[in-house]
Amino acid sequence: MHRGGLSQSRKVSLEILRSLMARASTRLPPFLLLLAATCAAVANAQLSENYYGSSCPAALLTIRTTVATAVLLDRRMGASLLRLYFHDCFVQGCDASVLLDDTPSFTGEKGAGPNAGSLRGFEVIDRIKLLLELICPGTVSCADILAVAAHDAVVHLGGPSWTVLLGRRDATTASASLANSDLPGPNSNLNDLLAAFSKKGLSSTDMVALSGKMPTDGH
Ligand code: HEM
Repeated sequence: MHRGGLSQSRKVSLEILRSLMARASTRLPPFLLLLAATCAAVANAQLSENYYGSSCPAALLTIRTTVATAVLLDRRMGASLLRLYFHDCFVQGCDASVLLDDTPSFTGEKGAGPNAGSLRGFEVIDRIKLLLELICPGTVSCADILAVAAHDAVVHLGGPSWTVLLGRRDATTASASLANSDLPGPNSNLNDLLAAFSKKGLSSTDMVALSGKMPTDGH
C-alpha cells in the first residue's frame, strides 16, 4: 500500500478506536470470568489514562509483558486480541461482556455466529486477569484489560499507538442475540455492513478504515 494512504487510514482508524473506547461501559461491578477469577469493581465511572496509577501501578506493565509473550509464542495472537476487543465493543459497549460464559439467566456471546469457533485470545486475557488478581486483587476491570491488551498487541506488531482511557466497569450480563444481530458476519452484504456500523455511530469511512485492520489473506 502507498505510504501516504496507509498513514491517513491509520489516522482515521485511531480516531475510530478512540471513539469506540470512549463508549466504554459504565455498567455494574464484578462478574465471573472464565477462570472464575472475579473481575474488578471500578468505583469511579470517570475514565482516565492513569486510572490505576496508585491502585495498581504494575497493571500496564503486567498486561504489556503478558501480551508480548503471547504474541512472541503465536504471532497471530496480536490480531486475535484486536478482534476480541472489537467484538466486545460492538455488543453492549466495551464492557468485557464477550468474556462471560453462559449462565442460567443469560446465553453469552461466545457461542454467537460471528464468535463461535473463531474468536481467540480468551486464555491470554484470563492469564492477565489471574496475574492482576495476585498483584492487586479486585482492582483492574476485565474491560480495561481487553482495551489495553488490544492496544499493546497492535503496537507490538508495529501498528500505531493511541491513548487508552481506563476505568471501565465490567458487564454482569451478556447477550448472544445482540452479538448475532450487531456483529458483522462473513455472510453480511454491503448494506448489512453499513447498517451494522451505522448502528454504532460509525460512518462508511470509519468502516473502511477499521476493516483495513482485517488480515488480507484468506478473506
Ligand atoms: C466489516 C465487517 C467485518 C467482517 C464481516 C469481519 C469478519 C471477519 C471474519 C469472518 C474473520 C475470520 C475469522 C476466522 O478466523 O474464522 C475475521 C478476522 C479478523 N477480523 Fe474481522 N470482520 C469485520 C471487521 C473487522 C474490524 C472492524 C476489525 C478490527 C478493528 C477486524 C479485525 C479482525 C482481525 C484482527 C481478524 C483476524 C483474527 C485472528 O486471526 O484471530 N474485523 N473477521
